[in-house]
Amino acid sequence: MRATFSRSRALVNFAAALVNFAAALGLALVLIQCSTTDSDAAPPAGERKASSEATLAAWETVYTVLQHPRCMNCHPAGDAPLQGNQSRAHAQNVTRGPDGNGMFAMRCNTCHQESNVAGPNMPPGAPHWKLPEPKMPLVFEGRSSGELCRQMLDPAQNGGRTPEQLFEHLAHDPLVLWGWNPGDGRDPVSTPHAELVRAARAWIDGGCGCPD
Ligand code: HEC
Ligand code: HEC
Repeated sequence: MRATFSRSRALVNFAAALVNFAAALGLALVLIQCSTTDSDAAPPAGERKASSEATLAAWETVYTVLQHPRCMNCHPAGDAPLQGNQSRAHAQNVTRGPDGNGMFAMRCNTCHQESNVAGPNMPPGAPHWKLPEPKMPLVFEGRSSGELCRQMLDPAQNGGRTPEQLFEHLAHDPLVLWGWNPGDGRDPVSTPHAELVRAARAWIDGGCGCPD
């Protein structure tokens, strides 16, 4: 009886140890995913510099895309979406509204559909066409490379995303993909989408380094 009891307790202890080990492993994986280049696990000095330069170059490619008008026009510093390659304020006084979907009769989906309407100056469209919400505005406009890099890594400013979730967003979100199919009369993002995906992967795998 007693023997059985202590054996089951040993089992419970063993199980607890396993859980702890798994948690530690999970934490280690998170740290490895975006560890800084000066951690113990980092390669020797010469290689370290090379890899961090490659990582920063990869981030610069991501940054260039984020600053393109096709992306920045929905990630403005102010409360109105922007239009065109000059990123001028949206016509008809359209504003963000309480949920990013505009105000009253000026709701985004009054005019913007799930896909582009053909013809010059017709509303572009993609699923969930809207601005980020005012409580988490995800501003790209006017952010320096270092500022935007740190913002993208801060869950309090990036919609609560892990680097891996950012990657998924850049690789698959319909609003992102729209940037390469923007409708008649608009230039697509100049960096190919495959190049953005490659750069985002390299930036994250390289430890998510940010310039100053
Ligand atoms: C029609 C407006 C619209 C367009 C165009 C748009 N976005 Fe966004 N973007 C949003 C909204 C709204 C969110 C927040 C939605 C969410 O959290 O799922 C968002 C979220 C994001 C996020 C995740 C949050 C963050 O800031 O870290 C990234 C990254 C992003 N967009 C990149 C892009 C890129 C790159 C492009 C251009 C290729 C682009 N967006 C074009 C509206 C847009
Ligand atoms: C009254 C109709 C209408 C409403 C409401 C409206 N839009 Fe637009 N929007 C348009 C039209 C039309 C265009 C195309 C203008 C052009 O190409 O000359 C446009 C263009 C845009 C562009 C420019 C894309 C680019 O890169 O040039 C963005 C971004 C945009 N709208 C976002 C929004 C958002 C977000 C909302 C809601 C907060 C919204 N719009 C509400 C009609 C509207």
